Amino acid sequence: MRLEGKIAIITGGGSGIGHEACKLFAREGATVIVADRDLAAAERVVAEITGQGGKAVAHQVDVSKDAEVAAMIAKTVADHGRLDILVNNAGYGIAGTVVSTSEADWNALMAVNVNGVFLGCKHAIPVMEKQGGGAIVNTASAVANVGIFDRAAYVASKGAVAALTRAMAVDHVGAGIRINAVAPGTIATPYFKKILSGPDGAELRAGLEGRQAMERLGQPVEIAQAMLWLASGDASFCTGSVMVVDGGWTARGDRKPMNPRASENKA
Ligand SMILES: NC(=O)c1ccc[n+]([C@@H]2O[C@H](COP(=O)([O-])OP(=O)(O)OC[C@H]3O[C@@H](n4cnc5c(N)ncnc54)[C@H](O)[C@@H]3O)[C@@H](O)[C@H]2O)c1
Repeated sequence: MRLEGKIAIITGGGSGIGHEACKLFAREGATVIVADRDLAAAERVVAEITGQGGKAVAHQVDVSKDAEVAAMIAKTVADHGRLDILVNNAGYGIAGTVVSTSEADWNALMAVNVNGVFLGCKHAIPVMEKQGGGAIVNTASAVANVGIFDRAAYVASKGAVAALTRAMAVDHVGAGIRINAVAPGTIATPYFKKILSGPDGAELRAGLEGRQAMERLGQPVEIAQAMLWLASGDASFCTGSVMVVDGGWTARGDRKPMNPRASENKA
């Protein structure tokens, strides 16, 4: 029970990595605020947790909206007296190069993936500071470290999350707040499971698995475990770290590029 008595907010808790993190944190003794734009999804996760004897409540939030994030933090403190852990995990990806991505799509993605982390931290840090400490875990991505084909906005957003994590860790270390990130590789979340069951699924799966040194997709719980470690006292000397959990994807120098036009780029 590494999180006994802790109060934890996990955004994007209704699906995928966030869902597994909510279940794991609750099993470790935390009271989990399952925060998601999709209230029904958050409520399903809460039912799962409470059905297994854990403590959780659902909260509807759009992490890109300042007033909604402020209200979520204020309600957590009003209802539970404190906030020990914030996992800024809500996020999404879109396809596109900088040329094909519209400004509206770029801004919408940045509002969730980057501003969502900024706003969560902006409102949680003063609370944690007042109570003498806390732990924040942000979800970056392995693509913060490598360029991938046709995902310009997403890659830029995750690079910003990694950089912001380091900047905030330095700013708030004196307040006893540890701020880290996880950088997952490609994980078998509902989104990937859906596209891999489509018509080009087999080819896509081979490409996605082949670029990770372990030649398989990660499981959401394998990312949740890293989040748990970073959020718990076990990581007491860890701040400003962007922990890569990617099956060796970014360590691998000989990965096959998933870029249909790469062969045209001859010297
Ligand atoms: N799946 C992967 O392979 C992978 C790899 C690296 C990083 N990530 C990152 O992990 C995080 C979780 O991804 P996932 O694959 O579990 O996704 P997912 O789509 O399964 O879950 C994301 C959840 O976030 C919620 N959400 C989306 N926008 C929101 C908003 N504005 N406010 C509140 N909630 C919102 C969704 O409703 C959903 O429940 C994301 O930040 C994603 O970029 C995923």
